[in-house]
Amino acid sequence: MTSFDELPIRDDLRGLKPYGAPQAHVRVELNVNENTHPVPADVVDDIMRRIHVALGTINRYPDREFTALREALAGYLGHGLTAENMWAANGSNEVIQQLLQAFGGPGRSVLAFPPTYSMHSIIAAGTGTQWIPAQRDAEFEISPATAVAAIQAHQPDIVFFCTPNNPTGTPVSVETIAAAYDATEGIVFVDEAYAEFAPEGEPTALTLLEGRPRLVISRTMSKAFAFAGARVGYLAADPAVADALRLVRLPYHLSALTQAAAEGALAHTPAMLAMVDDIRGQRDRLVRELAVLGYTPYPSSANFVLFGGVRDPQDVFDKLLAQGIIIRDIGLPHHLRVTAGTEAETTEFLDALAALDGSINGAL
Ligand SMILES: Cc1ncc(COP(=O)(O)O)c(C=O)c1O
Repeated sequence: MTSFDELPIRDDLRGLKPYGAPQAHVRVELNVNENTHPVPADVVDDIMRRIHVALGTINRYPDREFTALREALAGYLGHGLTAENMWAANGSNEVIQQLLQAFGGPGRSVLAFPPTYSMHSIIAAGTGTQWIPAQRDAEFEISPATAVAAIQAHQPDIVFFCTPNNPTGTPVSVETIAAAYDATEGIVFVDEAYAEFAPEGEPTALTLLEGRPRLVISRTMSKAFAFAGARVGYLAADPAVADALRLVRLPYHLSALTQAAAEGALAHTPAMLAMVDDIRGQRDRLVRELAVLGYTPYPSSANFVLFGGVRDPQDVFDKLLAQGIIIRDIGLPHHLRVTAGTEAETTEFLDALAALDGSINGAL
């Protein structure tokens, strides 16, 4: 067995680490920001029926344009969007990869504001796009002036935002996104994977799409829709963006089974999103109770909470895991991230954490 470094691999991939969230199947899984509520049984039945129908023609390639799915996605998002504005792939990770294949690549750069979703830089590396990290303001915020200054300093081809941001939960304002758009001639990409968990009435970047053909907004069915295993992500943008992605996507990239399942889930949107309010409630509870325990949680608009004040994150991670609870050490010193689960899961996590002696910075 040789290591990949000994193979004739691309020089720019040598020494890199793959995405590596631990995937332990334990009692309480609060590590990768999934929706921990299962899909309702009647929706599962309808999806099964649709998959059964799709299997009737599975000897044929699927609709390469996934037109019915794009129509359903546009209908779900609203904001005057139509199927022409939509694109989808196997998870928003693949959407982002296609975006960088079309608009990034060797000799091009993407500016981003870490700490942010770890796959953004990994996809940049995989597509040979230079990754330029820029500073955030205090409390992980990004003001319009901060974004514009970074763009002027680095002149990137693409600017990445993530709102609410993973792993911090921080929203990015539409003012910042609009200012960034005006400051660049490149693509402005906004990852809104957790948008459904944001407070009611918080404007999404979708409100900015009209008249901004270089603005691209991705969403996913993995989080609020409780559909992570189905692998369905999508974007909204000017129809020309979808045309550009047609140049790089593999033909028939969305299987007929995926399309049928996603259309089924979207046909039951209210039932699929019914748990979002509960999850928001558990998230707000995590923020309150982590503070009471002596940690320093950050306000979150997503379905997870980042908290600081942890003396030894690896130790806390290990001790919780030993009790069948997995959360996430995202590599920020003295911080951990936890997904808001069901009420029972959240209680288990908080009780187990409360019982750990000496885990709070300065507690001893
Ligand atoms: C900010 C962000 N974007 C995208 C994704 C990936 O989602 P998908 O399952 O659609 O590939 C995640 C998953 O954790 C995420 O946190």
